[in-house]
Amino acid sequence: MSAPSNISFRNPASSLERDSRDLLLMKSLREGTLDWSYDAEYPLVLSTEGNSTSWCAFMGNQLIGHASLWPRTLKHSSEQKSIPIGLVGNVATDENFRGQGHMRSLIAQLENLAYTQSLCALVLWSDLLEFYQNFGFSSIGREWRLTISRSERPYDTGLRRVDPSSLTDTDLSSMMTLRPRLEWGVERSPREFKALLTIPNSLVFVRRRGAKIVSWMIIGKGADLQAVIHEWGALSPDELIADIQTILSGYLTESLTLLAPGQLHHHWLEPLKQRSSQHSEHAMALAAPIGPKGEQAIKALARSFIWGLDSI
Ligand SMILES: CC(C)(COP(=O)(O)OP(=O)(O)OC[C@H]1O[C@@H](n2cnc3c(N)ncnc32)[C@H](O)[C@@H]1OP(=O)(O)O)[C@@H](O)C(=O)NCCC(=O)NCCS
Repeated sequence: MSAPSNISFRNPASSLERDSRDLLLMKSLREGTLDWSYDAEYPLVLSTEGNSTSWCAFMGNQLIGHASLWPRTLKHSSEQKSIPIGLVGNVATDENFRGQGHMRSLIAQLENLAYTQSLCALVLWSDLLEFYQNFGFSSIGREWRLTISRSERPYDTGLRRVDPSSLTDTDLSSMMTLRPRLEWGVERSPREFKALLTIPNSLVFVRRRGAKIVSWMIIGKGADLQAVIHEWGALSPDELIADIQTILSGYLTESLTLLAPGQLHHHWLEPLKQRSSQHSEHAMALAAPIGPKGEQAIKALARSFIWGLDSI
């Protein structure tokens, strides 16, 4: 069914429109109430600064649908190659307007925008595979989910929870360097990293040797990824496991899930698998090619990993 022609697509034009957008997203994408405002979970794409990434469908003055389109750069780790892509999230139609083709139109608008912005693929995270297949999306990439259960003996490696605002730019760049090296990854500046660390309910842990961070991890992200380590970096799998056991010794939770790239080197993956009580492999995301370099972008995405803070 195609959407009526009296629909306009644009960025929110006032704080009032941003408030109604956040209310629509909150009602559509969260259960119950939150201890923070919905936009706080998306400090780069739903903030005033990120206004141009927020796309609303209006029927007259009424906001009826929304999707974020966040242009990012996928960068090769050793060669001077990069591919512009668009991350999509915060997708919702007002419940009174569902089933009328509005999201179909909004996604078609996003595809046109992506094309005019020379983005080569759209990427999103959703369980609604069937819905997105309608628009040319398919599963791409791989990720591991490893369950690490509390060991009988207590650990204390010195890993501690920190206030993210205490981390310096040097800390943030060494954290990025400590992540496993992959062929392709999404670029992130220290300023963006700092903003993403303000997401409520994100527990940030670091371990230092002298002043230098040698291990770190982030658990949780707003209402998502509870008890999931979705970003991390360490010098060896043994140190990473000991640090996870340190958290398990100090907190009530019995187990944590470690998200890891599908292409993780076997020197890392095998010991992690051995020390996990369960592990499984999953698709990383859904993606659709855009324009003439679309297939090339899909191939690069299949060999990339998009970390938790970047996924919207
Ligand atoms: C999912 C959602 C955005 C769909 O919006 P919508 O405006 O109702 O979608 P449309 O009417 O444009 O539907 C487009 C097509 O997808 C199909 N579709 C709609 N919802 C679907 C679903 N949940 N699963 C599979 N297909 C679906 C429709 O039948 C339609 O197909 P057709 O054109 O062949 O008839 C809306 O139901 C919603 O806001 N849900 C709650 C929030 C949510 O789940 N967002 C997605 C998170 S990633």
